[in-house]
Amino acid sequence: MGFFASVDGLITPAHEARVSVLDNGFTFGDAVYETLRTYGGRPFALARHLRRLRASAARLGIAIPLADGELTARLDALLARAENAESYIRFVVSRGVGDISYHFERVQGPTIVMVVKPYERPPASWRTEGVRVSLVDVRRNHPTALDPAIKSCNLLNNILAMRAAQTAGAIEAILLNDRGEIAEGAGSNVFVVRGGQVLTPPLGAGILAGITREVLFELAPGVEVTIHEAPLRPHDLLDADEAFLTSTLKELAPITRVDDRAIGTGQPGPVTLKLLDAFQRHAPSEAL
Ligand SMILES: Cc1ncc(COP(=O)(O)O)c(C=O)c1O
Repeated sequence: MGFFASVDGLITPAHEARVSVLDNGFTFGDAVYETLRTYGGRPFALARHLRRLRASAARLGIAIPLADGELTARLDALLARAENAESYIRFVVSRGVGDISYHFERVQGPTIVMVVKPYERPPASWRTEGVRVSLVDVRRNHPTALDPAIKSCNLLNNILAMRAAQTAGAIEAILLNDRGEIAEGAGSNVFVVRGGQVLTPPLGAGILAGITREVLFELAPGVEVTIHEAPLRPHDLLDADEAFLTSTLKELAPITRVDDRAIGTGQPGPVTLKLLDAFQRHAPSEAL
């Protein structure tokens, strides 16, 4: 079981890997990241994740000097070293090593880190019983302040929300935007099912463009399900027939409780399970 890291291409056991205390990722949270997982030992949707990583970095003015092929070669070497049946993969790109100042011209970088560890499958009960989420008071960052479309290592908004959700006995926090609409989970996108139709907040709600969300939009027509983007209010979730979360690590997780309220029948619904099955059939084909 391997927990290994690559720091600028140097592979070591993860607990021996080191980044400078002057790294802007540490001193300012001035970094971006991606979370991936493998299917059959190969990373899922790597090209999509690298595209989003570069888009996040570009929003912060961080240039990633390596081509996708070079990043992939580093990741392949790390996965080979770790020898996990399935891996969780974290990419982090920080602006680099600075001097704890806003003098960005002094920063030497970027720092390019990859970490892999054994992938932990969600509990089987998620599929059979669903999960409980909590509608928290913490609002999602306003896009004009810190755009949630940037997958940045500044995760305090998510941490505050997750701490509130965990205190409420939930596995995920659902955050509203400043308009009081449902934005997204602290680490997932949100979907509701109403009258057989699947609805999810548009990117304009101030969310991360989830890759699982994107893949689901592509897959749904093949199983005769239509997904539409629509602004959603809390009552749309609370009164839904079904609801679910999507993320790379969770795939699709049926939401059967929002705080103390049961959603629909209180059991994972047929549309959710149909999409989950379709996703699980498809995902290995995007892991190359
Ligand atoms: C805030 C947020 N929204 C949505 C997602 C889901 O994105 P993806 O499907 O690409 O994992 C994540 C995943 O980490 C996230 O952190």
